[in-house]
Amino acid sequence: MSDIDFGLLAHRFDASPPQQALRWALQEYERIALSFSGAEDVVLVDMAVKLRPDVKVFSLDTGRLHPDTLRYLETVREHYTLDLELLVPEAAAVEILVRNKGLFSFRREGHGECCGIRKVAPLKRKLAQLDAWITGQRHDQSPGTRSRVPVVQLDQAFSTPQRQLVKINPLANWTSSQVWQYLRDNDLPFNPLHERGYISIGCEPCTRAVLPNQHEREGRWWWENPEDKECGLHAGNLSRAQGS
Ligand code: ADX
Ligand code: SF4
Repeated sequence: MSDIDFGLLAHRFDASPPQQALRWALQEYERIALSFSGAEDVVLVDMAVKLRPDVKVFSLDTGRLHPDTLRYLETVREHYTLDLELLVPEAAAVEILVRNKGLFSFRREGHGECCGIRKVAPLKRKLAQLDAWITGQRHDQSPGTRSRVPVVQLDQAFSTPQRQLVKINPLANWTSSQVWQYLRDNDLPFNPLHERGYISIGCEPCTRAVLPNQHEREGRWWWENPEDKECGLHAGNLSRAQGS
């Protein structure tokens, strides 16, 4: 695996539909899973299930998701008879955080610590079992941090010296309108929050609906600077965008 030229591979998939990168990844890696946020990245679930019906999917249940999102995760699980795993944070770590800093420490201190406990640690635990993971990241989700996300990359954040982890972002070059066209064309179930002005959806206290012509990222961690709006799931994004 180490002799794969990821730059070349990503370039090869740049002009092709997302299904090509997905097909390649699902054939290439046995220990692979798709990370599903419970939002419009359902298009990836749909594409992946059509390529491999028993594809493994996981969601990070932070304990702070909207009830609508939890219900929607179940809708998707049932719709596809999906092998969907919910990952929860370590109880002791959450208890200590909340006891010391309360339930909304991210408003005062930034979201790093809470996301670290509720999202990144469970993700790390999951990724340790995998050789590759698939995400729904797109360039247009966040011009400040995602504009150069490649379709395929070596995951610099979660690879270890002992084990390389490959990250596949099949939708990197797709726009929001292409995603929504796919959703409509294929009559996919979607998170009802989208009907109430939400575009990008994360945890309930850190996500809000946006107004006409506001960028979708403005609805996430709105009290922080745009370049701080990565929660650690995609930790390599910012450094790569700046460094290249
Ligand atoms: S975030 O890092 O800012 O929260 P975003 O909501 O844009 O990410 O979603 C981008 C991709 O990250 C999703 O398509 C999905 O692959 C992954 N992701 C984000 N949140 C979750 C979650 N709660 N569970 C699983 N995957 C997630
Ligand atoms: Fe905590 Fe907000 Fe991060 Fe969710 S998005 S893990 S509530 S800081």
